[in-house]
Amino acid sequence: MKPNNHVSTVKNLVNGYKSTYVLIAAGRLGVFDVLSKGEMSISDLAALLGFEERKIEPIMNALVHFGLISKDKDKYILDEYKDVLDPNSSQSQLGYINHALNMADKWRNLESVVKTSDISTSNFKSITGENYNQTKAFLQAMNTNAIPQANYLTNNFDFNGHSFIDIGAGFGTYSIAVAQKYPSAHGIVFDLPIAAQIIEENIKVENLLEQLTAVSGNYKDSLPEQKFDDAFLFAVIHQEPIEEVEALLYSVYNLLKEGGKLYLTTFFLEDNKIEPAFSVLFGVEMLVGSNMGRAYSHCEIKEIFQKVGFKSWEYIPDIPGPASMYVVEK
Ligand SMILES: C[S@@+](CC[C@H](N)C(=O)[O-])C[C@H]1O[C@@H](n2cnc3c(N)ncnc32)[C@H](O)[C@@H]1O
Repeated sequence: MKPNNHVSTVKNLVNGYKSTYVLIAAGRLGVFDVLSKGEMSISDLAALLGFEERKIEPIMNALVHFGLISKDKDKYILDEYKDVLDPNSSQSQLGYINHALNMADKWRNLESVVKTSDISTSNFKSITGENYNQTKAFLQAMNTNAIPQANYLTNNFDFNGHSFIDIGAGFGTYSIAVAQKYPSAHGIVFDLPIAAQIIEENIKVENLLEQLTAVSGNYKDSLPEQKFDDAFLFAVIHQEPIEEVEALLYSVYNLLKEGGKLYLTTFFLEDNKIEPAFSVLFGVEMLVGSNMGRAYSHCEIKEIFQKVGFKSWEYIPDIPGPASMYVVEK
């Protein structure tokens, strides 16, 4: 019997993990670091990486097949995707690729996660603050995602003279970008204890101690008492169930001055919850990577804005994806 399209659709879907692992292994083995120095033959590449040629070659050919690198006679070249695969590029995705292995381990347990809640709870703890190294790897991956969005934020909104709080600030990417672009702005950069320690290190490295203060705490019970012009809630709400998102937005509302603004991003679903692709899969990822978190639709978040009492909100679809943003006014 001739295979039809249905067979290849299912085969392609079920084999998706093979390309995932090729890209993760290439990133972690240092293939892109070496190729960023110039085109290279397989023997030179294997020698520089310190691995056997016969083991590296199939991976290189798969990368060429995906179109991520090219091959000219016997040389492999990092060209078209240099902007995202060169470790020195500002848009480098290598931190995200490195972190994907942690996530792939968790996805492996999707079936068990559905059957029991214990696994997702411990997965969430391991990502967000059980030990320094794992938290730092996670926050570095978040930083990779946040850099283009932080640039968008600072180029499209004015924070001159503002006070702000960045809740669940991760690596501190947004606060640091705002403080660098607006020397008259100052902010509290708030996260769980290990993340707050990492943020403080970053603030020191960037020489921003006069503008930014890292504060350690749990947003469920220890947010600061003062009032701010702006609150940032970037890539946070999807790690919480809807009751917690609602409670958090009430707390944020109380933190803002009259006319103050909340900037909020997540991977929004269309109201039918089956588009866009990234958000649909992110909803599944929150099953394995968070404690009862999920993806939210536009309709759901707007209902919460209204319930909490915010005056108005504007959807900003053109922030660099796959996340998108609402700017919400008190
Ligand atoms: C997905 S990351 C987003 C980081 C950053 N906002 C960004 O967009 O790059 C979520 C952040 O929320 C923090 N977080 C999780 N639960 C928290 C809590 N209960 N209180 C404070 N921060 C929390 C995590 O440590 C992590 O840094």
